[in-house]
Amino acid sequence: MKRPVLAANWKMNNGPSAAKAFMDAFLAGYAPRDDRTIIIFPPALSLTTVVAAATGRNDVLPGIQNIHWAEKGAFTGEISAPMAKDAGARVALVGHSERRHVFGETDAQCAKKCLAASRANMAFMLCVGETIQQREAGETERVVTHQLREGVSQTPNLISADFLLAYEPVWAIGTGLTASAGDASAIHTVLRSELRQMIGTRSDDIPILYGGSVSPTNAASLLAAPEVDGLLVGGASVEASSWLAIAQTISPY
Ligand code: PGA
Repeated sequence: MKRPVLAANWKMNNGPSAAKAFMDAFLAGYAPRDDRTIIIFPPALSLTTVVAAATGRNDVLPGIQNIHWAEKGAFTGEISAPMAKDAGARVALVGHSERRHVFGETDAQCAKKCLAASRANMAFMLCVGETIQQREAGETERVVTHQLREGVSQTPNLISADFLLAYEPVWAIGTGLTASAGDASAIHTVLRSELRQMIGTRSDDIPILYGGSVSPTNAASLLAAPEVDGLLVGGASVEASSWLAIAQTISPY
């Protein structure tokens, strides 16, 4: 039985004060439970606030939205995997579509970031997803499998404890457009079989999350779709009440 993974990506929202208020409200309403894993990706500046608030809650893992691939050095404004780990991050998000499309992050850079996380003994969640143009050109499967293979090309020894995959169609992120449960399931099935080809049955426990306009209203049906092992939530994760509703979504497992 897989435990669903429910991940909140706050993006550039919730500085330290708001993060503290969020965590107080969320944890007051969310009793520890062992049938799911919660990950919170705050802005880096709020990481230690989330870590402090989640102390003693092994079911709530703090994460980091982005890391640099080097361990340290002259990279103004960047944060390395060992630094994020030292501050309490347990999971690094890699290759989010906003990193790729707004900041020009490439597959090769994603591969270096996955390697950096793995070297720091930190789990990493690689995001893949097609644009609307790629979808309309019938290229979705080629694009997402290519991003997967390239993204983990330097970390071939994937295991479920360290690696999570997120399918986020770019056209569904922050737009209110959600892939149907069937559409999500179809692409997750493609990714699952790609993982099997890459590393065999030891890939079967790697969670594949869906992301893109997930809300308290559609979370249960998406989570119930075959091969959807969790949800990566942006806009609807920024407010504690909305995130609490999603975090408590009835588990289909
Ligand atoms: P959204 O974002 O839920 O606001 O569509 C998802 C994400 O980008 O991780």
